[in-house]
Amino acid sequence: MSLTTRLLDLLAGGVQSNPDGGFWMPEAASTGAPAVDNLFHFILWLSVFFFALIVGLMVLFVVRYRRRAGREEPEPSPNHNVALEVTWTVIPLLLVFVIFVWGFKVFLDLNTPPANSYEVLVTGQKWKWLFTYPNGHVDENLHVPIDTPIRLVMTSEDVIHSFYVPAFRIKRDVVPGRYAKAWFRATKVGEYQVFCAEYCGTGHSDMGTHVVVHEPGGFERWMTEVADFLNKLPPAEAGERLFKARGCAQCHTVDGGASVGPTLKGVFGHAVTLADGKSVTADEDYVRESILEPQAKVVAGFQPVMPTYKGKLKDQEITAIAEYMKTLK
Ligand code: CUA
Repeated sequence: MSLTTRLLDLLAGGVQSNPDGGFWMPEAASTGAPAVDNLFHFILWLSVFFFALIVGLMVLFVVRYRRRAGREEPEPSPNHNVALEVTWTVIPLLLVFVIFVWGFKVFLDLNTPPANSYEVLVTGQKWKWLFTYPNGHVDENLHVPIDTPIRLVMTSEDVIHSFYVPAFRIKRDVVPGRYAKAWFRATKVGEYQVFCAEYCGTGHSDMGTHVVVHEPGGFERWMTEVADFLNKLPPAEAGERLFKARGCAQCHTVDGGASVGPTLKGVFGHAVTLADGKSVTADEDYVRESILEPQAKVVAGFQPVMPTYKGKLKDQEITAIAEYMKTLK
C-alpha cells in the first residue's frame, strides 16, 4: 500500500463509519454504530472547517493590517453591517438546527428497542458483569444471535457501574435501585470487548467481559449446550465453571495468591482462623454459610466486603462449588 492510499484511507476513516474500525474509531458492529459515527464525523468536520476559517482569517488580518511605520491612521470602522450580521446568525442557526434534529433522531433510535427484542438481564457488581437469559441461565459473557434486536435491562448490586461496548457505540450508566435500558442489533459475527466506564473501586479496570455474536443457529446451539451443565458435568467441573462465571474468581484466587478475599487453595478440610481469633474447619457447611452469609465468619486479615449470594445460587450450585474447592489442594 502506497503512502498516498494509506493517507486517503486514514482520511476516509475519519469521514465515514468503517465496519472494521481504524485509526479514528473502533469497529462498528451494530446497526446503531454507523448512525452515531456519521453524526460524530459531521460535527467534527464542521468544527474543523469553522476553526480553520476563523483562525485562518484572524491570522491573515493580524498580519495584513498590522501597524507599520509610514502607514496612515486607519479609517473609522463601520459599526453595523446588517447583511453580514444576518448571515453569521442565520447560517449557524441552521447548522445547529440540523445537528439537533439529526441528533434527536439518532438518540430516539438508540433508545427505542424494536417490539420483538430478545431480553437479557444484566447485573453489574464489584467487579463483574453477569447476564441472565430468559431460561434462567447465567453467563459471564453476553452471547447473542446476529441480526436480532437485543434489549438489555441492567441494574447494579452495589455502586454505579457503566456498561460500555465501543463496537456497538453503547454506553449506559448502571445505577443501583433502578433499571437502565439499552438495545442493539449486532451486524457482525465476532467477539467484542465490554468495559465498565464508571470508576467503581479496586477492580474497576478488570471489570471487562465480551459480547459474543453468533452466526444464525449458533446461539441456539450454544444455549442448549450450556444451559444444563449443572446436570451434565461432574459436580467439581460444574463448580469450576460457576466459580469463574459467577464472580468468585474476581476476589478469590485458586493458586494461593492474595487478593480481595482469601485464596481457596488448600482451604477445604483445614482449619481457618477467623477475624475474632476463633478457628473453624472449612467443611461443606462452612462453605455454604460463607456463600450465603459472608459476614458471619470473616477470615482473619480480610475485610467483610463479600456480597451475599442468597437467592442467587441454588443449593445444587453451592454443592458444586464446595466439590470444586475440594479439588484445590
Ligand atoms: Cu464497575 Cu467500574
